[in-house]
Amino acid sequence: MPIITSPQDFNVDDLYIDLRPVLDRPLYLKCEGFNFAGSVKLKAAAAMVAAAERDGTLNPDSIIIESSSGNLGIALSIIAASKGYRFVCVTDPRCNPASVRVMRALGAEVRVISHQDANGGFLESRIRYVRGLCESGGGYVWLNQYGNGNNWMAHYGGTAPAIDKQFPDLDVLFVGAGTTGTLMGCARYFRERGRPVTIVAIDAVGSVTFGGIPERRMVPGLGTSTRPELVDESFIDDVVHVPETDTIRTVHALAARGFLFGGSTGTVVSGASRWLADRYPAGEEPVAVAIAPDLGERYLDSIYEESWLRENFAGLLSELSLPGADILGV
Ligand SMILES: Cc1ncc(COP(=O)(O)O)c(C=O)c1O
Repeated sequence: MPIITSPQDFNVDDLYIDLRPVLDRPLYLKCEGFNFAGSVKLKAAAAMVAAAERDGTLNPDSIIIESSSGNLGIALSIIAASKGYRFVCVTDPRCNPASVRVMRALGAEVRVISHQDANGGFLESRIRYVRGLCESGGGYVWLNQYGNGNNWMAHYGGTAPAIDKQFPDLDVLFVGAGTTGTLMGCARYFRERGRPVTIVAIDAVGSVTFGGIPERRMVPGLGTSTRPELVDESFIDDVVHVPETDTIRTVHALAARGFLFGGSTGTVVSGASRWLADRYPAGEEPVAVAIAPDLGERYLDSIYEESWLRENFAGLLSELSLPGADILGV
C-alpha cells in the first residue's frame, strides 16, 4: 500500500495493456498516465527539479519558468506547489483549455503566447518569451526540457529499466517524440547494453523533429516546430510519421473498447500498428511495447468533442461513431 506525503512520489510504472483485441496483433502498451500529473512528464519534471536543487540553480526564492504544451507544465505545477516554488508556464493557444485550468488550480501562472513563429508553430515564440523573462532578472530559472539532459536521464534510469524488467526478450520499442526525452533515454539504455531492441520513434506529420516539412498540427503533445536539442538519430532505428487523422481514428477505436487515451497515445499506437503490419506478416509476432504518455480526459474539448472535430477534421466525422447528447426534459 503506497502512502505518500508528496504528490510526485506516486507513479504506476508496471501497467501494460495487451492491445491484441483492438489491433489483431500483440502490442503491449505501457501506461504512463497513472500519477497525479496524469502523464509521463512527471518523471522529467521531477528529475530536472531535483538536479537544479542539487547543483544550487534553484533556491527557495527562485521562480521556475518553462515552455510546455501542457503536460510538463502540469507536472511542474504539482512539484512547485509541493515544494513551495512559484511557477510560470509559457504555453500557446493549442494547449488544452483543461490543462490550463489544472495548472491554475495548482497555483501556477500561465502565459499564453499567440504569436506564431516562421514554421507556423509557437515554440520559438514561447522560448523567446522565456529567454526575455530570464534576462530581465527576477530570479527566474528555466529548466529547458528541450535541452536538459536530466529529461532523458529520467527515462534512462526509470522508464527503460522498468520495461526491460518486464520484457527481457523485447524486440521492438515504439516511443513518441516530443522533446525526445523519453525516446533518447530509452534508446540509450538499450543501445548501451548491446540489446538487439529496434527503437522506432513515432512523430506527427508536420513536425520538424526528424527533418520533416512543417505543417499545421492541431493535437498537442507530440511533434515540434523547432528541432529539439536532445534528439540524436544515431540511437534510433526507424521513424514513423503519423497523420493527425490516424491519431484521431485510433483514439476513438481505443475509446470504443473502454480505453480513453490522449492524442499522443493515439499517435504512438497508430504508428506502431502500421510499422508492425508493414514489417511482420500476420502470424509473426515480435515482442513489441509502445509507451502511452497520457490519458484522455484533458482532450474532452478537442479530439473527443464533436464540434471541435467538425471544425478541424470534418471529413472524419462520418466514420467515427459519436453518440449525441441525450437531453431529457425531466
Ligand atoms: C502528452 C505528451 N505525450 C508525449 C510527449 C513527448 O514526450 P517527450 O517530451 O519525452 O518526447 C509529451 C511531451 O511534451 C506530452 O505532453
